[in-house]
Amino acid sequence: MIDETRYSIDELVDFAEGSELERFMKKFSTRMQLYSGGIKEIRTKLEILDEEFKSKFSYNPIHNIESRLKTVPSIMQKIKAKGLEVSIDSITENITDIAGIRVICNYIDDIYRVAEMLTAQHDITVLQMRDYIKNPKPSGYKSLHLIVEVPVFLSTGPVPMPVEIQIRTIAMDFWASLEHKLKYKTNNAVDDDLHERLKKCAEEISVLDYEMQDIHAAINLRNKT
Ligand code: GTP
Ligand code: MG
Repeated sequence: MIDETRYSIDELVDFAEGSELERFMKKFSTRMQLYSGGIKEIRTKLEILDEEFKSKFSYNPIHNIESRLKTVPSIMQKIKAKGLEVSIDSITENITDIAGIRVICNYIDDIYRVAEMLTAQHDITVLQMRDYIKNPKPSGYKSLHLIVEVPVFLSTGPVPMPVEIQIRTIAMDFWASLEHKLKYKTNNAVDDDLHERLKKCAEEISVLDYEMQDIHAAINLRNKT
């Protein structure tokens, strides 16, 4: 009999009887639990910051938070598409968006405020930052993308886990969900015109985002005086 309390989960997986595949699946699910832990850690940090902001300034910089754990078929598809080895080590090293969080803000300033407040925390390491607001994608896509590492605490100690964070306004999110439908769900010549129209929408949305932010600031100023 194995005394389960004396062994780490990884060691217990090694003890488990079964095929190669079974062992792979067990290790994989342990790994997935860690990614899920990463999502929870980041979500909690964001919620705490949002609540603090609300109590100090009577204002929430975050409109809502969405999160998702990449599905196993989607991970497999991505690792194969990249032409890389299908192993846990290779997945760990090369797929950084298994844990994904999307933060929707009201205004553009809030996006940078949230990113700054989060990345200033001493247990957060920024692995990558891509500003598609200042440098939009050719499609017109805008968002601030961060890949951060956050410690997830197990009984054996902390494990640093990567989490991809996309931060965008409500309007940018509205645009991205429609464009995503076109990009990933359809594939024909008529799409060219739709891509053009969407790109135009992205530009108009940007003007709207800045104008709404200005009006919001003006209202705040008036309320203070
Ligand atoms: P992926 O392999 O797709 O993860 O791309 P990447 O690793 O080069 O990262 P990138 O920053 O380009 O994109 C990461 C994610 O941002 C994507 O998985 C999408 O969710 C989103 N994204 C990036 N570009 C677009 C775009 O043009 N339109 C939409 N709707 N979403 C996008
Ligand atoms: Mg990615």
